[in-house]
Amino acid sequence: MTRVLYPGSFDPVHNGHLEMVETAAGLFDEVVVAALINPSKGDGLLALEDRMALLDECFDHLDNVETRKFDGLVVDLAVDVEADFIIKGLRAVSDFESELQMAQMNAAISGVQTLFLPTATRRSFLASRLIREVVRLGGDVSDMVPEPVLRRLVGRLDR
Ligand code: PNS
Repeated sequence: MTRVLYPGSFDPVHNGHLEMVETAAGLFDEVVVAALINPSKGDGLLALEDRMALLDECFDHLDNVETRKFDGLVVDLAVDVEADFIIKGLRAVSDFESELQMAQMNAAISGVQTLFLPTATRRSFLASRLIREVVRLGGDVSDMVPEPVLRRLVGRLDR
């Protein structure tokens, strides 16, 4: 049995994340998706509880996926949930440098290894940071996020 941990901020979860989780759910026995409070990202859009509710809704169709929230070291969570690996998506070479550094740090402090999965080319431009900016400025992200996320974002802007 192989269990993997997919950590991220998911603010908001988008179609690139969805693709990653669906791919991982097909490759591994169990996938734990963990939304972390990331203090280095100041311009958050959704509260952690909102992000969690959306993760639950977006992955409801996948029986071997569970969601968690966490605010410490990702490797501590990996040990806590007994994950065999952390998984990360790579959109482009530009992701590789920082992701490799994090993977090496995580392995150095815990021995937990990271596996990288490439995202589909047609989704390689998707980033929560850009989606937040487009949404704040009134742009259309309907092709980029799952339906529940779109409803939540529109609802938030209508407030
Ligand atoms: O979706 P993001 O914001 O790119 O995800 C980054 C995240 C949350 C996976 C990363 O910041 C992280 O692992 N944070 C947890 C704190 C931690 O373990 N830091 C050491 C990483 S080497």
